[in-house]
Amino acid sequence: MDTSGTHIIRGSFLHCVEDPVHHGSDAVDYIADGACRVEQGRIIELGSASRVIPQADEPVLDYRGKLIVPGFIDTHIHYPQVDVMASYGQQLLDWLNTYTFPCEARFHDPDTAAETANFFLDELINHGTTTALVFGSSHKASVEAFFAAAEQRNLRMIAGKVMMDRNAPEAVLDTADSSYQDSKDLIERWHGKGRLGYAVTPRFAPTSTRQQLDAAGKLLAEYPDVHLHTHLSENEKECQWVKELFPDSEDYLHVYEQSNLVRKRSVFAHSIHLSDREWQSLSKHDAAISHCARSNLFIGSGLFDYAKAVKENVCVGLGTDVGGGDSFSMLAVCNETYKIQQLQQTSVSPASLLYLATLGGAKALDLTDHIGNFAAGKEADMVVLDNQATPLLARKANTHTHWQERLFTLLMLGDERAVYDTLVLGKPAKLQGSATSGP
Ligand code: GUN
Ligand code: ZN
Repeated sequence: MDTSGTHIIRGSFLHCVEDPVHHGSDAVDYIADGACRVEQGRIIELGSASRVIPQADEPVLDYRGKLIVPGFIDTHIHYPQVDVMASYGQQLLDWLNTYTFPCEARFHDPDTAAETANFFLDELINHGTTTALVFGSSHKASVEAFFAAAEQRNLRMIAGKVMMDRNAPEAVLDTADSSYQDSKDLIERWHGKGRLGYAVTPRFAPTSTRQQLDAAGKLLAEYPDVHLHTHLSENEKECQWVKELFPDSEDYLHVYEQSNLVRKRSVFAHSIHLSDREWQSLSKHDAAISHCARSNLFIGSGLFDYAKAVKENVCVGLGTDVGGGDSFSMLAVCNETYKIQQLQQTSVSPASLLYLATLGGAKALDLTDHIGNFAAGKEADMVVLDNQATPLLARKANTHTHWQERLFTLLMLGDERAVYDTLVLGKPAKLQGSATSGP
């Protein structure tokens, strides 16, 4: 079917128009038999099929029986760590030295980078993720290859070259000057090209000198609409090490504040072990956290306090953190997010989980003008979920009486098998996708 012009997508639609924590059931819009008119990749209108379809003679992508939600937004992931996933037995600092740095050292090679970027992006699509904030390696070639592969697929992706000039093997180190120049070249070449954006990406405080963090701050001052992407307070030994390396800083976040890295469009992955001052500073600066539940469990880092984020009014998105995280699936991340808060006596509602994986992620990335829900004018990135994808899902579906149950089952029991199709700018992009079509 030709999806380049105007077409209709039909199915059950579910999306957040606000944050359910603050707006309750008004935050969610559910249309059991809905139709969405899409023109050149943008949403023109969403309404009941009985209203939208009779007015239209456009072709219809028919997903009746399926649940269509906005494309998932992964706010923290490392593409050169595909082959690090499921590495046994270490916590953060040893995990980096044993598995991660040796693996990332291979990404100076453009062929390795291109092959992995293509695999990685196909996996994101297979799992329903249409936007991600992505770490490259410290090699410029890694990010060149990544953006080229993302451009081919028309995905909205934000990525950056890692900046790291100390405390790691030579093969993954740069210098303050070279990291500044390489990042600048990449920004000039890729930032704002189609759906692509750049993130200035110092790895974390222990692997950057003050001189390099200042170079990152200089880039943000020169290019105010790029993102800042780094790690913060993930692991207790890491936090102790930061104290030793930066004795003049009040706390971990202050290390970044001193180089002017904390502002809107700054995303701090993990943020588990924060002081009250750090929470308040994140809030005051309008910075965001990427909560990486699966990775935090896998490498044993700790339990993120979501209730505190809500209380302090800090914006949160979700991240897989592949390869610390052991799955590409944002459904699987929602599952672990739910359980980590259960352990702390907070029950995150199904609507809030959907929000965190979609509109909340868009807010964390300051991209709500483009993505995150089905408001008219936004880009038509969608995930078509299938409650019949496995025998267990199908069995459970028999018990559903409300969309909350239907959604919660998918979030807890679903994986990529439940992603029937992924639509990028309104076009089916998952290879198995097979909507019936017709006027
Ligand atoms: N902190 C610094 N680098 C990394 C990384 O690659 N993964 C995770 N999870 N934490 C980090
Ligand atoms: Zn990470």
